[in-house]
Amino acid sequence: MEDAEFDHHAQRYDEELAQGLRLTGEGKEFFAEGRVTWMRRRWLKAPWTANSILDFGCGTGGSCDPLGREFGGSYVGVDPSMASLEEARRLYNGSGATFFTESGKVEDSTMDLAFTNGVFHHIPPDQRAACLREIWRTLTPGGRFAFWENNRWNPIVHWVMARVPFDADAQMLFPFQARAMLREAGFEIEGTDFAFVFPAALKGLRWLEPLLAKLPFGGQYLVIARKPKGTANCDQNGNC
Ligand SMILES: C[S@@+](CC[C@H](N)C(=O)[O-])C[C@H]1O[C@@H](n2cnc3c(N)ncnc32)[C@H](O)[C@@H]1O
Repeated sequence: MEDAEFDHHAQRYDEELAQGLRLTGEGKEFFAEGRVTWMRRRWLKAPWTANSILDFGCGTGGSCDPLGREFGGSYVGVDPSMASLEEARRLYNGSGATFFTESGKVEDSTMDLAFTNGVFHHIPPDQRAACLREIWRTLTPGGRFAFWENNRWNPIVHWVMARVPFDADAQMLFPFQARAMLREAGFEIEGTDFAFVFPAALKGLRWLEPLLAKLPFGGQYLVIARKPKGTANCDQNGNC
């Protein structure tokens, strides 16, 4: 099997990411926790829980703990990079998490929550629809999809990504492109938020972030979407 692009970065993933995040004064754990608490506070409010969670493009599994802690349920990580998954299995051995190189291993309509972060800018545009079909297939009807991407409107994000070796191939998406792609795939869009405005040096201002969520300032955006109810055995085109 041909090496996946991220096989060449798996061992140094944290180091490479840290080169970019340095400007923010925060580490990857801050962002992994922050994404999940943001989803909980604004969209997937308690007592909403998930029996099962798909992390599409999970990499070395950095979202495994925060997602499990916040939403419960079993965690399934999917990523084509075997080297990244080896690292994820080592780190989360005994946690009950499972990791697959192919989403095809995940059964139809079994996931209550699908999550993806910083993945679609690594997927060539002509392959994105097929990935969304897979995410759709694995979700339960009514299941939610949290789509996180880096904010292409934000010049600081470009500065950061230019310093991260594994982002050399990035083809970023604007939020409106992400929403159109998700709609095209049959998802209902519930909303879009921008998050991560203030670096550590200005952390005293972070309480303002929910008030700024609709302005395109943050380093990342979240499109929250839903697989419509009543679509158990149907594809996105309504063929049942
Ligand atoms: C920047 S990393 C993000 C990893 C993880 N989501 C995180 O937040 O730490 C991008 C990941 O997307 C994965 N990826 C690239 N193409 C993919 C595809 N077609 N399907 C699923 N994952 C893919 C890469 O292997 C890599 O692990």
